[in-house]
Amino acid sequence: MNEKQRKEMTQQIREGNPADVKSDQDNLNRLKEKTSDDFVKYFQTTYQPPDIKKARKRGKEEVKYHQDFSVSDDLVGIGKGKKFLIRTYGCQMNEHDTEVMSGILTELGYEATTDTHEADIILLNTCAIRENAENKVFGELGHLKPLKREKPELILGVCGCMSQEESVVNKILEKHHHVDLIFGTHNIHRLPQLVKEAMFGKEMVLEVWSKEGDIIENLPKARRGKTKAWVNIMYGCDKFCTYCIVPMTRGKERSRRPEDIIQEVRHLAAQGYKEVTLLGQNVNAYGKDLADIEFGLGDLMDEIRKIDIPRVRFTTSHPRDFDDRLIEVLAKGGNLMPYIHLPVQSGSSEVLKQMNRKYTREDYLELVGKIKNAIPHAAFTTDIIVGFPNETDEQFEETMTLYEEVGFESAYTFIYSPREGTPAAKKKDDVPMEVKKARLQRLNALVNDYSNKALQKYEGQVVDVLVEGESKNNPNVLAGYTPEQKLVNFEGPKSAIGQIVKVRVTNTKTWTLDGEMIEEAAEVK
Ligand code: SAH
Ligand code: SF4
Ligand code: F3S
Repeated sequence: MNEKQRKEMTQQIREGNPADVKSDQDNLNRLKEKTSDDFVKYFQTTYQPPDIKKARKRGKEEVKYHQDFSVSDDLVGIGKGKKFLIRTYGCQMNEHDTEVMSGILTELGYEATTDTHEADIILLNTCAIRENAENKVFGELGHLKPLKREKPELILGVCGCMSQEESVVNKILEKHHHVDLIFGTHNIHRLPQLVKEAMFGKEMVLEVWSKEGDIIENLPKARRGKTKAWVNIMYGCDKFCTYCIVPMTRGKERSRRPEDIIQEVRHLAAQGYKEVTLLGQNVNAYGKDLADIEFGLGDLMDEIRKIDIPRVRFTTSHPRDFDDRLIEVLAKGGNLMPYIHLPVQSGSSEVLKQMNRKYTREDYLELVGKIKNAIPHAAFTTDIIVGFPNETDEQFEETMTLYEEVGFESAYTFIYSPREGTPAAKKKDDVPMEVKKARLQRLNALVNDYSNKALQKYEGQVVDVLVEGESKNNPNVLAGYTPEQKLVNFEGPKSAIGQIVKVRVTNTKTWTLDGEMIEEAAEVK
């Protein structure tokens, strides 16, 4: 470690959510006297990384709800005349966290920019789900190095799921000294103080709480777009699928109170939003941790259904908690969209067992059958992992046949990626990478084929499209989604943006539909 090149580092590493900032500060002051190597040692001995054994035993202690987020007087306006840029690498929850961080930075006086050269603060909101997600972030850190050299006052921060991993933080400490700020998924509400420390101190600021905190209800949000909005209904995941890092990076399952969610959706409806997507890593577990009420996702959807907003979606579903009450409510239709994303991961009961998914192939098929019975026009999509350690050819074939049996309309497919700290990563794996790649290719060919077929059904039909904006490739073409989440491109007036309009499908492709607008709907419900 090169002492000269290295900045001093301030490390605020706390187990849990303690309020004793002062004793931390004393520690830090003492540490400032020491060398960088001492910092790393301190980090390695004091920092308690999220640990699966501990996580599995984590308690069901009550979650506290707060309404007390505020920007203190000394921080108001510290971003005035300055610009921020946040790059997002992860899932919808990650994207929504970006909206919250944008909201907080806006309250500090910052303005958004998309130009790295204009930015005074750049945050990388990272994802740890697969190795390639992490590689992208390290690549970007490399790209940003010259910029930071040119503009030393730029604050470069790393947040999101990767910051919750000890190995990642160590790598940044050792190799990416141009990073000014690292903070975890449970520290977002601390952004004002962290920015101030990064701005006025010379040291690297590091704050990663390993344990999740309470729920803070009044965080500001700068939402992207005025048509569709994300609404968190719960945080964290307690499913512990053996391949997955999320229960460690996002903490235990914590549900928001129904009244807070309903109020947020009502507010969005009043602001003119046309669609909300209820978010959680496993939304079907919603409410299980609410000690004082029996209130699950079905009950929540039954309430939200009555709100005057044209479209309601939810993601992601885990098959295990998809109960009859939810099916019964979804079958009521109305603003509840007939689109079910139901990750299956594998078609082999043995592999599912090793993944700790807690359902079999048969259970999954039975559930799909039940949903199809209740909502015959529902479109199903899924997530699939190929090449789980020691997956046999036969087991992979079971995934292929399951795909056909369900008739999925689309899927996100992945090659298994070992994640440090997860049980599956410790397994010996006898499947060569070429075999995994060949399996993925075969699966993807099937996915394309089924997507194509599913879209052909729409030929000549008239569909309702919520228009999001101009198509990426051609500004004369508008693009939007059907209730079943099919992307439609069509020519139409700009005034249709943000509205639900009727479009006749004139051509079908593998992934998208082409059409012509037949009427600009007067407020479709
Ligand atoms: N909570 C959601 C999924 C979150 S992650 C659920 O359980 O359905 C999104 C998808 O990434 C997962 O469904 C899975 O297919 C994939 N995934 C997760 N961990 C992975 C890993 N280690 N390697 C490859 N794919 C993975
Ligand atoms: Fe990961 Fe499984 Fe939780 Fe989904 S349900 S986030 S795959 S542990
Ligand atoms: Fe990635 Fe974290 Fe989401 S690991 S998928 S950003 S919860």
